[in-house]
Amino acid sequence: MGRMPVSHIRLITSGKGGAGKSTVSVYLGGALVRRGKRVLLVEMDAGLRSLDIMLGANESAVFDLADVLDGRTDPLRASVECAWQPGLWLLPAAADAAFLPKAEALRRFFRETEKVYDYFLIDTPAGLGNGFEVSAAAADSAIVVATPDPVSVRDAAKTAGLLFERGLADTKLIVNRLPEKPSQMLVPDLDAVIDEVGAQLIGVIPEDKELMQASAGGGPLSPDSLAVWEFEGIAARMEGCYVPLAIR
Ligand SMILES: Nc1ncnc2c1ncn2[C@@H]1O[C@H](COP(=O)(O)OP(=O)(O)OP(=O)(O)O)[C@@H](O)[C@H]1O
Ligand SMILES: [Mg+2]
Repeated sequence: MGRMPVSHIRLITSGKGGAGKSTVSVYLGGALVRRGKRVLLVEMDAGLRSLDIMLGANESAVFDLADVLDGRTDPLRASVECAWQPGLWLLPAAADAAFLPKAEALRRFFRETEKVYDYFLIDTPAGLGNGFEVSAAAADSAIVVATPDPVSVRDAAKTAGLLFERGLADTKLIVNRLPEKPSQMLVPDLDAVIDEVGAQLIGVIPEDKELMQASAGGGPLSPDSLAVWEFEGIAARMEGCYVPLAIR
């Protein structure tokens, strides 16, 4: 009989770089925390960190994923808390770009800390290399982030197909950076994106200057911004609540 999951291990992936995986990890993580969930962001971009800056926690990051998986430190000592969203935690990526995590070590880490967190959000590097494979082997489901342009959508479709082959059947889709005007879309419409990726749409994030500035500067979004509202909708849907998707 399968193990009853105590916590949720969600892979955040895209195929194409720059689609918004890290941005989604941070602000979706924040929305889950505001629902009372304990969230750990696990950063897989070996050698290329960004979440520590986005969380305003770069000063406090001493240990990293490699230290934890290789047993040099305790997982809880290695995690750092977000400066602007208490309760949102990060296990920073390995500083060593050559670090190749093993799926079994990652699974063991999740088993050992599953009572401490309700959600693990794994922020994967771009592409379909080791970071993707190891995360897919340790996650129990995935969120694919795509921007509405032909290359991102094709890469997201490829990624969703690979996830399915890896046994992750319940992949959800977030469309990020939806342009303000339909005439600015580089694909026919949202339905075309959903059809090609072949995953259930769980949220749509608009193109948003404030979101770009907040993520670059490592700060929160204003509570009444459209993006915050969208991330809260996604968090609610992940928790099984029915929140209609308001698509312009
Ligand atoms: N909805 C949005 N509106 C405006 N800018 C956005 C939006 N989402 C992400 N961005 C910006 O796009 C850039 C890439 O985002 P992000 O770093 O989250 O992507 P990524 O998929 O994690 O990239 P990588 O593949 O390099 O890890 C950042 O400058 C971010 O601020
Ligand atoms: Mg990233």
